[in-house]
Amino acid sequence: MKITKPLNLGLAALAGLAFACGGGEKSAETTTPEVSETTPAAPAEEISLEEKYKDDPIYIKGLEKLKTSDCMSCHMVERKIVGPSYADVAAKYESTDENITMLAEKVIAGGVGVWGEVPMPPHPNVTLEDAKDMVAYVLLLKK
Ligand code: HEC
Repeated sequence: MKITKPLNLGLAALAGLAFACGGGEKSAETTTPEVSETTPAAPAEEISLEEKYKDDPIYIKGLEKLKTSDCMSCHMVERKIVGPSYADVAAKYESTDENITMLAEKVIAGGVGVWGEVPMPPHPNVTLEDAKDMVAYVLLLKK
């Protein structure tokens, strides 16, 4: 019996505080709803795929090898030029060993007909290992 009395007083005080806070928050909420709703969405969409994956070891290794060949003259990450964008290729294929090998062989042998009538020329000087690293980089670039 002796314990309940101070406890009740404490609860009453807490309830009073909560009520005071609640009232305060409500009036603040009505004045600033627009600002907090528009700000979080914007930066997420502006992050480029390069920015998103730049620290991934697959990205770093693949990009280094891509730069030693002519891939960049026909492919861009997020825009179609002569060939499809890497982002479009990544959206089309799961990043499995099977797909990486299949596409690596296609990079070496050249190919046509999957993305249109423009052919990709063969790259006989690229080794299968290097081509796989390049393709792994391409398939990493998912949005
Ligand atoms: C002369 C332009 C050109 C160059 C250089 C080039 N590509 Fe391509 N690439 C293309 C075209 C065009 C296609 C679409 C081929 C098709 O429709 O089958 C393509 C398709 C691809 C595909 C998707 C293949 C598929 O079957 O979906 C990958 C992956 C690719 N290229 C990677 C590379 C890599 C890696 C390099 C550098 C070693 C490279 N490309 C160099 C023009 C090029």
